[in-house]
Amino acid sequence: MTLFRQIGIIGSGRVAQALALGLAPVSETPALLWGRSPDRARVAARRVSAVAAPTLDHLARACDMIAIAVSDDAVAAVAADLARALPPGSAILVFHVSGRSGTAILAPLQEAGAQTAAIHPAMTFTGDPQAEIGRMTDARFAVTGSSPEAERRARDIVARLGGVSVAISEDRRPLYHAALCHASNHLVTLMAGATHALRQAGADDPAALLAPLVRAALENSLDRGFSALSGPLLRGDDATVEGHLDALARWCPGLLPAYRAMALATLDELGRTEESPLRRALDSTPAVP
Ligand SMILES: NC(=O)c1ccc[n+]([C@@H]2O[C@H](COP(=O)([O-])OP(=O)(O)OC[C@H]3O[C@@H](n4cnc5c(N)ncnc54)[C@H](OP(=O)(O)O)[C@@H]3O)[C@@H](O)[C@H]2O)c1
Repeated sequence: MTLFRQIGIIGSGRVAQALALGLAPVSETPALLWGRSPDRARVAARRVSAVAAPTLDHLARACDMIAIAVSDDAVAAVAADLARALPPGSAILVFHVSGRSGTAILAPLQEAGAQTAAIHPAMTFTGDPQAEIGRMTDARFAVTGSSPEAERRARDIVARLGGVSVAISEDRRPLYHAALCHASNHLVTLMAGATHALRQAGADDPAALLAPLVRAALENSLDRGFSALSGPLLRGDDATVEGHLDALARWCPGLLPAYRAMALATLDELGRTEESPLRRALDSTPAVP
């Protein structure tokens, strides 16, 4: 069953394409897609069987639901432009998909009569919309509505995407988003650093070496939280960790700041907050070579 007469998507990037594809079943007619770069918008629309809208005004007049899927820093300006383009008395639902903001950023649209919401998929989109609509199944979506009715409608959309809604209040959205970036984006950086160090250690296929270990550690930590920790910091083998610092300083100094920060965070989580030779070694600024 469709929920909307005509859905519209603003943006032609990764999430815009996945949403156009994933939300197609809730629209009576193919999704309209508008992007600031007409050529990119046309290519994106064709890729996901949507129709490229000639202008933002056209999109605003034609749709009863619009998703804003542009860069975080562009959401406010796009919302203001869209608010100016909405026909008077429009009862449209507009949501954005940025993690860091709630609905305050959509205030001009609310003033123009729209119901507004923020719907953030806690998922990574890298430009493969066909595969990514599958990944939205069972993914969590942070939902913040400007009213109970807007929140209910936003939850309906999440359910149609196969996802599970999680309420995050307006003032906690930046904290929520920081947590997700720390877990997913920084994980990629962490793996890149470990890969550099393994190459220096002579491993010719760092990914193959890391894969079973890292997958097991990730699974264990998701199942058991911090009690999944193993390794020298848990055992109290402080000399081993000091040896790591020496080795990194010699062969992979670029990794030292991240290693020190994560080792200190691990000691804190272990409750080993007292002053110790290891803490001092981790805290000390490395000498400039
Ligand atoms: N990628 C993810 O994993 C992910 C996950 C959850 C949520 N999100 C959210 O989804 C949104 C889009 O992210 P994305 O990864 O899809 O980004 P993206 O692939 O880089 O696409 C960004 C889109 O924003 C448009 N844009 C940038 N500045 C603009 C401006 N000033 N005015 C109008 N349009 C502008 C770009 O237009 P051009 O093509 O003309 O440059 C492009 O179509 C962001 O809010 C992001 O936080 C992303």
